[in-house]
Amino acid sequence: MTPPARGSLVACRDLFQIYRLAGHEVVALQGVDLDIARGELLALLGPSGAGKSTLLALVGGLERPAAGRVWVDGQDLARLPEAALTAFRRGRVGFVLQTPARNLLPYASAVQNLELPMRLAGVPAARRRERARALLAATGLQASGGRSVRALSGGEQQRLAVAVAVANEPPLLLADEPTSQLDRGNAARVLELLRVLRDQTGTTVVMVTHDPEAAEAMDRTVSIRGGRVGAEGRGGVEYAVVGPTGLLQLPAHALEVLPPGARALVEVGDGPVLLHPVEPPDEASR
Ligand SMILES: Nc1ncnc2c1ncn2[C@@H]1O[C@H](COP(=O)(O)OP(=O)(O)OP(=O)(O)O)[C@@H](O)[C@H]1O
Ligand SMILES: [Mg+2]
Repeated sequence: MTPPARGSLVACRDLFQIYRLAGHEVVALQGVDLDIARGELLALLGPSGAGKSTLLALVGGLERPAAGRVWVDGQDLARLPEAALTAFRRGRVGFVLQTPARNLLPYASAVQNLELPMRLAGVPAARRRERARALLAATGLQASGGRSVRALSGGEQQRLAVAVAVANEPPLLLADEPTSQLDRGNAARVLELLRVLRDQTGTTVVMVTHDPEAAEAMDRTVSIRGGRVGAEGRGGVEYAVVGPTGLLQLPAHALEVLPPGARALVEVGDGPVLLHPVEPPDEASR
């Protein structure tokens, strides 16, 4: 198994996750290999049910993998004892969950929401207040500290949710579709906030999104399809990724010529690698 690449904060190796539902199993991840560099802004893309949230749950230590390894910040999460995993979740990673209502206490004020994770981490009161003030300023909510969450707009709530997630200054922020319910202006403000956090504190950000524009605002995009890494994009160019067992997922436009089950001759030369579609062998000639 290849060890984490130098400089990576997150390393997943042949990661599997299986959910058991009354009588049947769902293989949500089937062999994910992924390295995320310290300070990287990464977008996770992929169709519904592809395994994006599952991958975040494993990287954030909310769940343990069925098989494979996941290292975060030097810790081997699959093998971490329960108490250490809880400490990891509280101090080393921040979450913005896919369901917005689960990120904030609706009847508490913005400041109370910000202070809660710091209380759980044992941060002294004076330091909590100071940090809450700084976070409100960073998110443009300085005038709203005393207001209850219910009185904030959707965009303000999402910015507050990001601020709560980074209250304990974790090296890693995992945000599951933080802009999906926002209009363009508010979505842009949340994306800007993620970038500022990275630039100012070096926070590594992994963001799930369906929005190609939001993805483009990140350094790199990784597409998940069928529980595997399908493609990777940098600077607007999309690359296919060879998976752990040599498996290669073709981009959608190639699937039109080479649909699942098709056969191809692979020609490797000095330059491009060519795939030549061939007819399957005739049943009669076998
Ligand atoms: N707790 C669970 N119990 C059973 N099945 C689950 C559970 N969580 C996820 N799944 C299944 O695992 C697969 C991957 O789900 P996941 O939530 O990771 O997808 P996703 O890429 O985040 O999708 P979406 O874009 O809709 O949020 C799906 O088939 C889903 O139904
Ligand atoms: Mg999801």
